[in-house]
Amino acid sequence: MDVNRGQWNSKIGFIMAAAGSAIGLGNIWRFPYVAGENGGAAFVLIYVVFVFAIGLPYMFAELSLGRATQKNPVGAIHAILPGSVWKVAGYLGVFIGIGILSFYAVIAGWTLLYIYKMIVGDPGGFGELIAEPAIVVPLFAIFIALTAFVVHKGVAEGIEKWSKILMPVFFIMLLGTIIFALTLDGASKGLTFYLHPDFSKITWSVVLAALGQAFFSLSLGMGTMITYGSYLSKDDNIVTSGISVAIFDTVIAIMAGLIIFPALFAMGEDPSSGPLLVFVVLPKLFAAMPGGLIVGAIFFILLSVAALTSTISLLEVPVSYVIDEFKMSRPKVVWIVALISFLMGIPSVLSQGASHFYSTLRIFPQSLVDGPDFLSQMSFFFGDIGLAVGAVLLSLFIGWKWTTAKASVEIENGAPGFVKIKGIWGILVKFVIPLVIFIVLLTTLGIV
Ligand code: TRP
Repeated sequence: MDVNRGQWNSKIGFIMAAAGSAIGLGNIWRFPYVAGENGGAAFVLIYVVFVFAIGLPYMFAELSLGRATQKNPVGAIHAILPGSVWKVAGYLGVFIGIGILSFYAVIAGWTLLYIYKMIVGDPGGFGELIAEPAIVVPLFAIFIALTAFVVHKGVAEGIEKWSKILMPVFFIMLLGTIIFALTLDGASKGLTFYLHPDFSKITWSVVLAALGQAFFSLSLGMGTMITYGSYLSKDDNIVTSGISVAIFDTVIAIMAGLIIFPALFAMGEDPSSGPLLVFVVLPKLFAAMPGGLIVGAIFFILLSVAALTSTISLLEVPVSYVIDEFKMSRPKVVWIVALISFLMGIPSVLSQGASHFYSTLRIFPQSLVDGPDFLSQMSFFFGDIGLAVGAVLLSLFIGWKWTTAKASVEIENGAPGFVKIKGIWGILVKFVIPLVIFIVLLTTLGIV
């Protein structure tokens, strides 16, 4: 093994880093509004089933390929089948990492802005503020720089160390905020909407939205878990670690709903108000409550922290690729890749009103992407299409080319009990997972 690649120092360190990757804006910003748009509790139920029946088995596949080869996604595929075209699945992962980072860090920058706005007690003006380049460009740059700072320190000294600090802080702040939200007038109405399943709301598109959200939230489809798996040692237990990550991720998403829905109903707002929910509705609520601004500041700090441990993992995939394949030193690679991602994100950061061109530049038809802005196009291209294509290719590669038999042997190392479920796992990875994701992909593209 190449000792210079880095390795996790402890089992809990890996779990914190992987859970940190999974838990992000996807859980706190995206999950509640997607649940709100898709009928609340029934959606949540389907979501949980997908996380454990589809997402988790797929996660085992990525982790095992990473640990077996001790390589980034491109190098891992090359190590199994040298010179094959399957390498494109690896390159796709590297490219998606840079692409998602480029717009995700824009939104993460807004969370920094709202920490400040809560502190000064001024909740409004979201639309005007994100249209102001002198505000959002520096915040975006700061967020990319924070990410690069942690990643340049390395796997154990940077990613693991910071995740072990940031995740508990995040969790405590989340608990505090939930207690606050549950004491609001109207909280019970919000909870009923959120927790009482209405199965009449379940349509085909709700089911597909739940699956897409499960993959995004668990950071699957672009080799993040191949990369994080490559820093595991041979006796680590992939199964129990993966289960812990999935449980953390799901619990936190559900907990985020326990803040958002009570708050929404307390404010008399519509639960399907979409992406604006966290940045428009919640700040108003915080400002209206005694002591609310402090809770608000804490809430946006926790959102920034969650976003940071996710952007770290997005940056680490391309970084590990360049380090492994070109034998370059980590700090140099990190700052170069971060700069590329920053430049690629400029159109996104300007697309919320600052630049008319980027704000109205529609690439994909409205039937597929709601917003005409560049950020929405990026999110669709990388987050919806890219990850689905990546997940289909990677599950086919692992299932059929590397073979589930070899992957199972790798997983059983450190998790001997896996032998009991490897048959069903093999069927999932070879047939069920690629097929259902392919169906999601076709619907996302508007083909079926
Ligand atoms: N899972 C993160 C979230 O929920 C986002 C994320 C980080 C991600 N790394 C990823 C999504 C890799 C897909 C693939 O916010």
